[in-house]
Amino acid sequence: MSQNNFFRGSIYHCVEKNGNLNPIYFDDGLMVVDNETGRIVDVGSFSDLTSTWDTSNNLIHFQDRLIMPGFVDTHVHYPQYKVIASYGTNLLEWLNKYTYLEEQRFSDEDYANQIANLFLDELIKNGTTTVMTFCASFKQSVDAFFSASEKRNLRMVAGKVMMDRNAPEGLCDNSDDSYLDSKELIEKWHNKGRLSYAVTPRFAPTSSKSQLEQASKLLKEYPDSDGKKGVLLQTHMNENGEEIEWVKKLFPESKNYFGVYDDHGITGNNCVFGHCIHNTAEEYQRIAETGSKVALCPTSNLFLGSGLFELEKLESHGIDVSIASDVGGGDSFSMFQVMNGAYKVCRMNDFNLDPVKAFYLTTLGAAKVLNMDDCIGNFEVEKEADFIVVDLNATEIISQKNRISSNITDTLFNLMTLGDDRLIDEVYIMGQRTFKK
Ligand code: GUN
Ligand code: ZN
Repeated sequence: MSQNNFFRGSIYHCVEKNGNLNPIYFDDGLMVVDNETGRIVDVGSFSDLTSTWDTSNNLIHFQDRLIMPGFVDTHVHYPQYKVIASYGTNLLEWLNKYTYLEEQRFSDEDYANQIANLFLDELIKNGTTTVMTFCASFKQSVDAFFSASEKRNLRMVAGKVMMDRNAPEGLCDNSDDSYLDSKELIEKWHNKGRLSYAVTPRFAPTSSKSQLEQASKLLKEYPDSDGKKGVLLQTHMNENGEEIEWVKKLFPESKNYFGVYDDHGITGNNCVFGHCIHNTAEEYQRIAETGSKVALCPTSNLFLGSGLFELEKLESHGIDVSIASDVGGGDSFSMFQVMNGAYKVCRMNDFNLDPVKAFYLTTLGAAKVLNMDDCIGNFEVEKEADFIVVDLNATEIISQKNRISSNITDTLFNLMTLGDDRLIDEVYIMGQRTFKK
């Protein structure tokens, strides 16, 4: 019989039933994790569960700590680890001045390995346990990321950037090579342990029509089948005014930016569109009709001055949304800070992002965007035990504020407003501790 580990402390997570969010909080809770499978066996209040479970062995008691699901970041660029905090540019200038130069360094496998490991260290110490990341356009940049993730037993999604025009020659592939390289990487990594592949055309301006068609072909060649998940797709859309004008010139036959992807067969519930700030009414409708997913990137949009997304509008169309860091356009790895940014963007639209929703958008809702809500995102039985232990007294001001919280929602709001990596005390992956501050 396999052995269980017991984690006692305050526990917060959120379940979704018939489209409604149901926040669940145990002031003195217990989570039971199967040590062999790393999956959740039971969760509830300590006093209720002690009649079921003998906790006299293998019990860890976290005092003044909150156990929560690990964060899921649905849009980030690991090769931009050192691009973060680049001064004084809008999106297109920033790409040319900083980003493309740095990404060229990822043709060097050793460099890619080094940055992949630094990036994963930074994620974990910020409590982020799963990401979907863009790699660079070199195959070896993908191998580096997946190898480093596999060693740490992380659930991760990544893909080789496809770009065959309008970028420095050293970064461009061509549509045949990008198809073949992506296919080779899918065969090598997709559904290997906890890893998944995302077909990754960077954004419409850097792909020819033929490359977008190749991306669509890959999606069709690797659909969900026999209980195995198909590949995902990640790209950017409607982030910046100049970018949108450029897309109109490059693809005059398409109705709008989303139309470019739609016309080339790369929309649907396995496709995640980053940003989606400046959507037209038709685009909102079509994103919804196709079941496509959205990753909003508040800290990046503020840092690059790209604009203010409209969360309410996306949700009123029934679109599945998440919020994401978009490092290195985003200026923080901390999903607390990403929620803080999202709250402020919503305030600019005179709308309140409540903390239960904010944490949903960085955990279960984000898992849903990646079609992974069956295995991560909350503490339902049988899910993988990727969780974080939050120190409720990590800073004086957070401690003072939490002492006057009237309920868990107040505490969550303190965390998302004032929090950062200082709050993350421990991180567990599949029930095993991988980080202790
Ligand atoms: N659009 C195309 N490439 C990028 C990128 O690397 N970052 C962001 N924020 N937007 C993009
Ligand atoms: Zn991005």
